[in-house]
Parts: sequence; structure tokens; C-alpha cells
Amino acid sequence: MNIKTSSEAIETLDVDAIVIGLYKDNTHGETAIRLGAIAPYLELDEFTGKTKQTMILYNVEGVKARRIYLVGLGEKEKCNFESVRNAASIAARTLRDRGLKSIAFEALHGDAQSTAEGAILGLYKYDFLKTQNLDKIKKVDEIIFSGNDVDAWNTGVIMAEGQNYARFLAETPANICTPTWFAEKAKEYLDGIDNIEIIVHDEEWAKEKKMGSFLSVAAGTEEPAKFLEIQYNGGNENDPPIVYVGKGITFDTGGISLKPSANMGAMRGDMGGAASVVGTLYAISKLGLKKNVIGLTPLTENMPSGRATKPSDVVTASNGKTIQVDNTDAEGRLILADALVYAEKEFNPHTVIDIATLTGSIGVALGEAFIGVFTRSDELWNELNRAGEKTFDRFWRMPLDPIYRKALDTPLADVNNVGSRAGGACQAAEFLGEFIEMKRWCHVDIAGVMDSPGSSDYHPKKGMTGKPVRGLVEFCKQME
Ligand code: BES
Ligand code: ZN
Ligand code: ZN
Repeated sequence: MNIKTSSEAIETLDVDAIVIGLYKDNTHGETAIRLGAIAPYLELDEFTGKTKQTMILYNVEGVKARRIYLVGLGEKEKCNFESVRNAASIAARTLRDRGLKSIAFEALHGDAQSTAEGAILGLYKYDFLKTQNLDKIKKVDEIIFSGNDVDAWNTGVIMAEGQNYARFLAETPANICTPTWFAEKAKEYLDGIDNIEIIVHDEEWAKEKKMGSFLSVAAGTEEPAKFLEIQYNGGNENDPPIVYVGKGITFDTGGISLKPSANMGAMRGDMGGAASVVGTLYAISKLGLKKNVIGLTPLTENMPSGRATKPSDVVTASNGKTIQVDNTDAEGRLILADALVYAEKEFNPHTVIDIATLTGSIGVALGEAFIGVFTRSDELWNELNRAGEKTFDRFWRMPLDPIYRKALDTPLADVNNVGSRAGGACQAAEFLGEFIEMKRWCHVDIAGVMDSPGSSDYHPKKGMTGKPVRGLVEFCKQME
């Protein structure tokens, strides 16, 4: 798809349709007022501009495009980033599904960034593995933005592209999306962007680093594990970086603590954290943010085999701590433990944020409306929360507490990988806290938002969400 910008007035563009936003009760947007010719249509019809209401007008005088797609924005005072994303995505999807090839947008509600995000996220479709009837798959060839706020539009496009790529990586089945494939795809995707460097470490390297916890998960599979390291040097040479660490389990069977088979296929998305790190690094580097940022993703399958870790095995992490693995299905924390040690010791970071589809229990607590966040730093919480509100990747702070840590005590080792009582997401966060000392660390549990039944306007179909790429990019932008 070709995405372009134009400083020409939207009514002069030669496209299949132009999209115009209208507020409720005839407080029209600027373009609508300029196009006085549409006023009679509005009087004749029941279009009131209420939220998500739509209408198509054909062959309107003074408009070059054959169609005007009107989309309701609701009351002007209540219109916000999210209602703009929703309106833009409805417009883009509907016009695509009608077979139109070129669409022009104005900045709905004057908000070019959210318009771009809604349109590009709304048009996402996973058809990578389809081989039949490809000509029947409806695709938009060209999106044109008409307006002056080109920087905001481009920011929205890049953020949405980053999230869409995370969706793509997470959706791809695990026989294709192996650790090796994931690392290759990330390299391909980021290749040639200024100031980006990518290293793919192998298991030998992990052994040298004494990552016994990460390797204890990798022991159960034939697929070679990888540890992806992405460096973006957008800031001054010695500026401490922001480090994003993403859980990269390309398939989680549970290992010897095997999961039930119902819906196990969803565990192809257990690298959603790693996918969102790649999408985030893409957007940050494409935007040229003036920060140093590192992305780290330990990648492996979690499989049962003759070499797999067994419940009660004790392994040693790279900070020297011993871990009793009582449940091999609590594997995400095992691979993150060594990645967090590496993040803190190697990079002298300003902030470390890990993103992981870590526990079913966070989904029970928060559903798909909020993403659970655990941190020792009020300051970091406030910053992340602000980024979440702006992008609608909404976060909710959850507790770290010695009581949850105590549940991980065990006679055999320094720490158990599972706890004894309820509060599983909080225990998991305490476990991670054993492997990082700095205050500005936070753990983001995205298990509840890994996939969506297709419940939002710009996520209309069942599938992996790619969350919280935009929230993480916005956080970095705010740190600039
Ligand atoms: N990958 C799962 C968590 C998960 C569940 C992600 C649902 C997305 C949707 C994780 O590795 C896991 O299995 N966690 C266990 C931990 C338990 C054994 C302490 C869980 O949540 O049940
Ligand atoms: Zn698991
Ligand atoms: Zn898992």
C-alpha cells in the first residue's frame, strides 16, 4: 500500500473516495463548511454526525472524487484521540471492503496522528499464508493525507506500522515463526534504518554468559534458541539507554507441566512481548527519536522432551541465584530472568521495561481493558500511565509486595519459579524482581491483551493485538 501526503485541498484529489468527519448536531468540521455543497444532503438525510454514524454521497459538486464518505465524530467537546482512531478505521475498512482502491483523509478532528493510526491499524489483515483466490482479497492501493500536519500524520503511520508488524509476528504459527525465523524477520524489517544495529546471539553465547535459567527452557526443544539484541543509537554517545525486554516464547506447550490441549494454539502468540519490542524499535528508529534504546528478546520454544527440565529441577541464573523450577509452564519468567540480568549489567540503563505474556492470572484480573504494570518507581509508573492514556494502550498498576515474594520461598533453592497461593501475576512480578536491582524497572504483563476476539474498531477481527507498541513508543517520545 502506498501512503502519501498532499498539500492540495481534499476536494481536488483524484481518488475513489474522500473521508470527512462531522460533529453531532451540525457543528461541522472545517472541510464540511468549506464544501457548502454537502449541506443540502445533510438536511435531507438523517445523518446527525453522532459517533460512528456514516453516509456516502456520490458526485457532489465541487468535489473531484466520486464519493464522499461522511463519518460521525459525536459531540465536538467529547471527541478525543480514540474516537478519531475509531472513526478513521471504520472509514478505511468500509471503503476497502467495498472494493475501493484509493482513499483520501483529512485530519479528523484536526488530529492527523490518530487519523493515520486508525486507518492503518484498521486496514491490517493477516493473509500471509493464503495462496488461493488472492485476487478476491480486497486491498487498498493508495491512502493520501490531505493537510499540513504532515509530521503528525507520519508519526501515526509509523506507530501503526510498528504495531501491525508486531501483530504479524505474533500471529504467525510456530512451525514458521521459530526463534531463528523471528530473528531473521526482525533483521529484515529493521535493515537499513539509520542508527540501528542488530546482533543475533546463539546458545553458545548464552552459555558463556551463564544464562542457566534461559537455557533450562531451551533444553526441551530441538529448535535452536536465539537471543536478539537490537541497538538504536539516536541519543548522545554516553546517554544511558531505555531497555525494552520482550518475552519470546515462540510456542508454549507448558513443557513437562503440559498445558491442556483446548486452545493451546493461542500459545503461538507467547512471543507477543518480543514482537512488540521489534515493532517498538522499528517505530522509535523510523521516527528518529533522540534517545538511545536497546531491545532484547530471549527466544525459544517451551517443549516437553527427553532433555526437558523436570518439575523440582534446580537451575542457576546468570546473577548466580538458584531457581527451583516447580512448574515448567512458568517459563516466561525463567527466560526473562537472565535477560534482565544482562540488561542491567551490560547497558547501565536509564530505564528497563520488560513486556511479557506472563500469566493467565493478569487476564482474570483485568480482562482485555487494561495491561498490568508492576514497578518500584512511582515516577516511572506515572510516565508510563501517561503514555498509555494517550495511545489507549491503557495500563493499570498492580502491587509488588514482600508477601508475594514470600510465596516463592523454597527449601531447595534461592527462589521457586511458582508460588503457593493466589496472586499469580504478582508473584511472577516478584520473581522477576529477584533479577534486577534498579528502581526504574517495570514489568508489563500483557497476557490479557495478547489476542482479541475482535472487539474494537481498529481490531475488528479475532487475532493477536501487537499491544502495547504505541504505548511503548509514546513513552520513549515523552522521555526525549
Ligand atoms: N504463556 C503463559 C501465560 C499466558 C496465559 C499467556 C494465557 C497468554 C494467555 C505462561 O507461560 C504460563 O503458562 N503461565 C502460567 C503460570 C503458572 C504455571 C504459575 C499460568 O498463567 O497459568
Ligand atoms: Zn507457560
Ligand atoms: Zn508462556
